[in-house]
Amino acid sequence: MNAPSHAQYRHIETRRIAGSGGAIVEGIDLSTDLPDHVLAEIRAALLDNCVIFFRDQRLTPEQQLRFARRWGEIHLHPFMQGMADYPEILEIIKTPEDKKNFGGSWHTDQMFSPQPAMGTILYALEVPSAGGDTMFTNQYLAYESLSDGMKTLCSQLRTVCVGDNFKQHGGVSRAARYDREMTHMKVKQPGNVQTTSVHPLVRTHPETGRKALYIGGHVQRFDGMTDEESEPLIDFLKRHSVRPEFTCRFRWETGSVAFWDNRCTQHFAVNDYPAETRIMRRITVCGDTPF
Ligand code: SIN
Repeated sequence: MNAPSHAQYRHIETRRIAGSGGAIVEGIDLSTDLPDHVLAEIRAALLDNCVIFFRDQRLTPEQQLRFARRWGEIHLHPFMQGMADYPEILEIIKTPEDKKNFGGSWHTDQMFSPQPAMGTILYALEVPSAGGDTMFTNQYLAYESLSDGMKTLCSQLRTVCVGDNFKQHGGVSRAARYDREMTHMKVKQPGNVQTTSVHPLVRTHPETGRKALYIGGHVQRFDGMTDEESEPLIDFLKRHSVRPEFTCRFRWETGSVAFWDNRCTQHFAVNDYPAETRIMRRITVCGDTPF
């Protein structure tokens, strides 16, 4: 599908929330079965802005799933249990009992899969009176702002990405951490689903053709290098990729939906509402093999 540029929108309006990207899309009711020409404009808005937001939606699980299926197959999280009646939907729940939140570090979804998620559609059911925002960073800008020398070096490197026992959490398993700190998030065993993958550090977006830095919390080391050899550059790139001018921050309201493109963003769920509850429903759409 050829995406029109935002100047040609006829069925939606968009309003940028930051210089780096992120836009509110107006004029859409996601609970309806959207015609193809409207969907084409939403796709263009996603590609133009990396992450788009819709306010004041009321979505049943079936309606959220119907919208998500327009973008591709639904990706099942290998480690997290979905809702009992809708295994494709992950409920992200944090209450005052929980110290930590799900997604509370910079990452891009399912980077540990051989074909990581193309996009994520997150719907807010209950949000704290203040806090619980989600931050996003534009990985095209992160790549484009590197020096030519660093771009050349990065384009030769591949990363080893894992789905559990992350170094940044001291190698502790999801099961042990979630049991202690995120009591409402139910972990499952991935069985024989592949959860360690090697990906290019610089990926080309299959729809826009632009290059993006492909880094996040799942990256453990460079392929063919030791941890010690990899760490200095990985640390630099992780810090660089979330510079404030590459980011935007979304303030949730009940009924808000965020749809982000995992191929060119990272995100971070801010954990700053210790005495309140936040309940979200998340669906991830399958993507392709990064190149
Ligand atoms: C996630 O990482 O998918 C969760 C984001 C959020 O809850 O804001």
